[in-house]
Amino acid sequence: MDNNDNEWFDDYFEENDEQAQPSPQKTTTRHIRWGAVAILVIIILLIILLIFLINAFKDDIKEDIDKKPPKDIPAGVQTSVTTAPPTTDVTDTATTTAEPEPPKPLYPVETDIEVIDGVTYINGILIVNKTYGLPEWFDPGVDPVAQAKLEEMYAAAADDGITLWTASGYRTYEEQRILYEDYAAVDGYEAADTYSARPGHSEHETGLTFDVNDPSSTFDGTPEAQWLEQHCAEYGFIIRYPQGKEDITGFMYESWHVRYVGEEVAKFVMENGICLEEYFGITSVYSENE
Ligand code: DAL
Ligand code: ZN
Repeated sequence: MDNNDNEWFDDYFEENDEQAQPSPQKTTTRHIRWGAVAILVIIILLIILLIFLINAFKDDIKEDIDKKPPKDIPAGVQTSVTTAPPTTDVTDTATTTAEPEPPKPLYPVETDIEVIDGVTYINGILIVNKTYGLPEWFDPGVDPVAQAKLEEMYAAAADDGITLWTASGYRTYEEQRILYEDYAAVDGYEAADTYSARPGHSEHETGLTFDVNDPSSTFDGTPEAQWLEQHCAEYGFIIRYPQGKEDITGFMYESWHVRYVGEEVAKFVMENGICLEEYFGITSVYSENE
């Protein structure tokens, strides 16, 4: 306490002890001092109130921040959110202040590209398009799993009053070559390349692909085509060349051409309206020397 403070308290006690009437000058000084004390007390009370409020709403604020979606997930893409188990000890600051795990996109985070004897697999899924070809000797026949799922799908369609059948399934390299050359002879190579794959580049050579009912644009929009688009993913199939993705797949829209990729990938691709090239982040372009 310095001299000024001593004077101030002396004045105060003097006044109370002796019931003395203070001079007008002293009264003004005292008022100023009491005013300063009052402002100080108010400031302290406000700080205490602020600390109290921050503590009271701390958890709500944190919850709001945790709920905000990350900015880099594309619209319409589902995310799997890891929910942390509730903490029982509220004093455990290490738990409450830890950074939350970022949600993981369902696009494959890592793509494992494997080429086995000239056949490309991405995350175990056989890939064929204009970029990725098949060797001439590759002759697997119809895939038994894909065939069984196809029949299951046809049976489910029949239960809904929809008749589906296979117009074209497995083709050998040689069969695809003849088909492509026939189309090219009629329409020219450039036009043929928009709807028919060159030999070694057709999914029909994998045994995992089927043309359903009528392989032409007259099938588009029919009840059968609509049923196929709505339900094929439940059986592990995708519409391999979707409408609007021609520049990415390299082929025109084929509402009848389904490709077996398994249920998990099929559901993601169909629900998000993307093609397989987008799903894996790959191209579909012939190399110059093909
Ligand atoms: N029509 C498809 C692209 C094929 O030829 O395999
Ligand atoms: Zn086809």
